[in-house]
Amino acid sequence: MTRLGVLVSGRGSNLSAIVEAQRAGRLGAEVGLVISNRPGAGGLEIAAANQVPTCLLEHGAYPSRSAFDRALVDALVAARIDLVALAGFDRLVTRTLLDAFPVRILNVHPALLPAFTGLHAQRQAIEYGVRVAGATVHYVDDQVDHGPIVLQGAVAVQPNDDEAALAARILEVEHAIFPAAIRLHAEGRLEVHGRHVRIRGSVPPPPPALLWIA
Ligand code: GRF
Repeated sequence: MTRLGVLVSGRGSNLSAIVEAQRAGRLGAEVGLVISNRPGAGGLEIAAANQVPTCLLEHGAYPSRSAFDRALVDALVAARIDLVALAGFDRLVTRTLLDAFPVRILNVHPALLPAFTGLHAQRQAIEYGVRVAGATVHYVDDQVDHGPIVLQGAVAVQPNDDEAALAARILEVEHAIFPAAIRLHAEGRLEVHGRHVRIRGSVPPPPPALLWIA
């Protein structure tokens, strides 16, 4: 069974969705460790409430990004983790982590990449005036929100949406596609060729329906 390590910095709703998928037998993996870089992260409580081992590694305690990543790698390896999920993890990762888990780190980003990388993606989408927004799960590489795309799901932007309303709708997509992508990886059904990820076999059911808004 693939052992998943989940890195969180905040409230942990994606972690909840992942744990729920595991419980329902839809993850194809077991969450073996949750690591947070922030002591107050809700994700730590969610993990503890679900009997998942947790580890707090405060990034400020390390002299460099790479030293912090070394500590992450040590904790992940000690917990025999095979696959890493960045679920609202707010630190840039370095080659230290990437090289320890090559093509084995997945991130969820609240936008249809390559649009709106970085922080406040939902606000960027509202400000830009797009009609369609969504979420992306991708393998992590050495550029921000950039690696090969595994799954994407789209939602319509409603005329009266503010950032919070759009973020909530996008979050539902994240909660559908992140566990689905983890399962595809865990089942060995993802083949990465450069930027292209080929999914072997049937693709998972689509996330919430895309609406046409004019
Ligand atoms: C999500 O929107 C995720 O896409 C972004 O940070 C947010 C984390 O939310 N990277 P949560 O902590 O999983 O609730």
